[in-house]
Amino acid sequence: MQRDHWTSRFGFIMATAGSAVGLGNIWKFPYMAGAHGGGAFLLLYLVCVLGFGLSLVIAELIMGRMTRRNPVGAYRKIAGGAWPAVGALGVCTVVIILSFYCVVAGWTIAYLVYAIDGTLAPARAGGLDALFDSLIGSGIMPLVYAFIFVVATILIVSRGIGGGIERASKLFMPLLIALLVVLAVRALTLPGAVDGLRFFLTPDFAALDGATASAALGQAFFSLSLGIGGLMTYGSYMTAGQHVGRDALAVVLLDTGIAILAGLMIIPAMFAAGMTPAEGGPGTTFKVLPAVFASLPGGHWIAVGFFALLVLAALTSSISMLEPVVAYLVDERRMSRTTAAWSAGILCMVLAVPVSLSFGAWQDITVFGLTLFGLFDTFASNLSMPFGGLMVALVVGWILGPRAIAAIGPEGRTVGRWAGGWLFIVRFIAPIGIAWILIQGLI
Ligand code: PFF
Repeated sequence: MQRDHWTSRFGFIMATAGSAVGLGNIWKFPYMAGAHGGGAFLLLYLVCVLGFGLSLVIAELIMGRMTRRNPVGAYRKIAGGAWPAVGALGVCTVVIILSFYCVVAGWTIAYLVYAIDGTLAPARAGGLDALFDSLIGSGIMPLVYAFIFVVATILIVSRGIGGGIERASKLFMPLLIALLVVLAVRALTLPGAVDGLRFFLTPDFAALDGATASAALGQAFFSLSLGIGGLMTYGSYMTAGQHVGRDALAVVLLDTGIAILAGLMIIPAMFAAGMTPAEGGPGTTFKVLPAVFASLPGGHWIAVGFFALLVLAALTSSISMLEPVVAYLVDERRMSRTTAAWSAGILCMVLAVPVSLSFGAWQDITVFGLTLFGLFDTFASNLSMPFGGLMVALVVGWILGPRAIAAIGPEGRTVGRWAGGWLFIVRFIAPIGIAWILIQGLI
């Protein structure tokens, strides 16, 4: 069967940036920065992204484009032996991520409904905490919204690469960025916001410890969708004429820029609302932003637009989680695309039930001090994704070695001398950096 591919370079960048940019940037990044010292976290995050994140994005895309396979097949083709198990771990990890991602995306859909029907109106501003807590504690409603989200993901993935994913991403990414700029400017001019700005931008060196490094590394991998085969799968649909290095740079800059913009929007708003950054947690975005909307002319419509765009941003990410699983089931298990998408999607919905309850009725059930959501998130972001990144570095840096350099540019064209520096990072800096932080995190 002829393998699907992207219809244009712009389409690839939008879809891959669509994968990278999602709830990780707007929901997770600000509260993680809040919990881990603000500026210190931002600094370590940037070190991880620019120090080796970008290089690993290039490496993972190369593995996909060279082999034109799903993650398991790609490892088998390049490295053989026990390596396909690393691809399989990635495929299992995306299922775990999607099972909590859909719960948070479900909250976003609920807030879109609240924005439309007036529940979020300015009069409710004082009751925002209560509104959020009653949603996540209500048992059934969050699951209904989460299931709607998963079904939407399944339907898009069933239709294949070209049309759906690419077209949607091209339209709304620019809209999302424009709206974030407006909201960040507004949040920064709220009374008390300057303290938030200072907290976010000035690194407190006392907070630069192993725990912060581990959190920043996990966030970098989560945000870049790195290490678990999503990028490999998207790379497998790249055309021979594409420049992997240049396109990856565009994706990473978009992702990082949007995370910083989201931090500038949420953290000052937290300070303005009198919330301490450390205790914001997963509800932060939902508790803080409606007050910012309420302070704007036309805030009702801005709220509707914002949550609609956030749902779409989450969708272009969730698609990229389901796609590697589907690619695996189609390539290796000879399933039809539709059956594969529904099977994997239903598995995620089943797992989403206990995850959603872990925010409400089951929040007291903990393992290692973590709720089920915390456990899934920590396993995926802080262990499996960095481990997968380490494996990508070893395979591309040491098994492919200098051959990988020839795979960066458009087929048959050599790239500049910087590629030698790239290989050095993949061979040495990335493995040492990740291993060091992984060990710090475990300690
Ligand atoms: N990068 C996405 C975000 O920041 O929301 C999350 C994500 C997408 C993680 C795809 C993993 C993945 F395979």
